[in-house]
Amino acid sequence: MNNNFLSGLGIVLLCESAVAVPAGTTIDGGNTIHKTDVITPGAKWKDLEGKEIQAHGGGILHYKGVYYWYGEDKADGYLNYIGVSCYSSKDLVHWDHVSTALPSQSMPAEYGAKGILERPKVIFNSKTDKFVMWMHLDHPGYSHSVAGVAISDSPQGPFKYLGELSPIQGSTYRDMNLYKDRNGAAYAIFSGDNNASLYAVELNADYTNVKTPMIEGTTWAQIVPNESREAPAPFYYNGHYYLLSSGTSGWAPNAAECYEAPHILGPWHSIGNPFVGKESNTTFNSQSTFVLPVAKHPGCFIYMGDRWNPGNLADSRYIWLPFKVHKDGTFHIHWRDSWSLSLFNHWTSPVKE
Ligand code: DGJ
Repeated sequence: MNNNFLSGLGIVLLCESAVAVPAGTTIDGGNTIHKTDVITPGAKWKDLEGKEIQAHGGGILHYKGVYYWYGEDKADGYLNYIGVSCYSSKDLVHWDHVSTALPSQSMPAEYGAKGILERPKVIFNSKTDKFVMWMHLDHPGYSHSVAGVAISDSPQGPFKYLGELSPIQGSTYRDMNLYKDRNGAAYAIFSGDNNASLYAVELNADYTNVKTPMIEGTTWAQIVPNESREAPAPFYYNGHYYLLSSGTSGWAPNAAECYEAPHILGPWHSIGNPFVGKESNTTFNSQSTFVLPVAKHPGCFIYMGDRWNPGNLADSRYIWLPFKVHKDGTFHIHWRDSWSLSLFNHWTSPVKE
């Protein structure tokens, strides 16, 4: 039985085995003890089968009350040996490995087990009823650096690979994210020009290519020129767009910088490093990958970062930390050894989704 639903109601289920269960925990079918709603940044995070979650450089799609977490499955190593994983959860803490949503074998050989697939993200297109995945594809040595696009009729896939493209002619396409605006327009945000600059490019109506004709300032912009930023993680609150980013130091962590703008195409300006306290200059030993709005708590967000382990990428850990944007538009992100999702109830009263 999947106990998520019960634990979500605050019910602790004791299975037939006589295991002493600390308060606030549940037992799944495999006798793995899970705290009901606690996230421990940097700890091993296991799925409901007890396997370590493989969803690096990932992002989350919230669709019909279910969270889908997509990311790089690095269980077999650095190259795209396995593909893009998909996990689902109703509570953001307990994750079911539902599929390899884009298996590496379904990719052209140069991007399969011999190539690089990083930072996949998925958004839903309500006009076409398709789930659309964008990703950074590359050859070893990051010598090719293009975007890849895949679509699916269901969130768990299998996604069908459609092809590659370079959204900005002559520019590389590396660390990326997708952003779906409130009016339904969607954007790819990525590190271009060999990581020198960040770009935002509006997607076409079905989200599978760029919108044409491309008009600078209207459908695309070089949003952060010549500051060598990567790992872009956009979010929106109360009339302001925000963009978290990292510096460019390979797998090694560095200081984050956040930008703010009145529109996704800019103008963007830096609002500095929102991480505060010890080790904030290394983003608490992590690199941004996504910022998740907390559905029932407007203004509350979860920072999602990767703590890369270059010696064993499969054992890279997840750093998830909560934060709240204040009325004046400022916010800070503090380290927490562990935290509970109920924290958001202390910050704001829940609204109906
Ligand atoms: C930093 C990027 O953010 C990661 O996704 C990965 O490409 C590493 N560089 C490789 O060094």
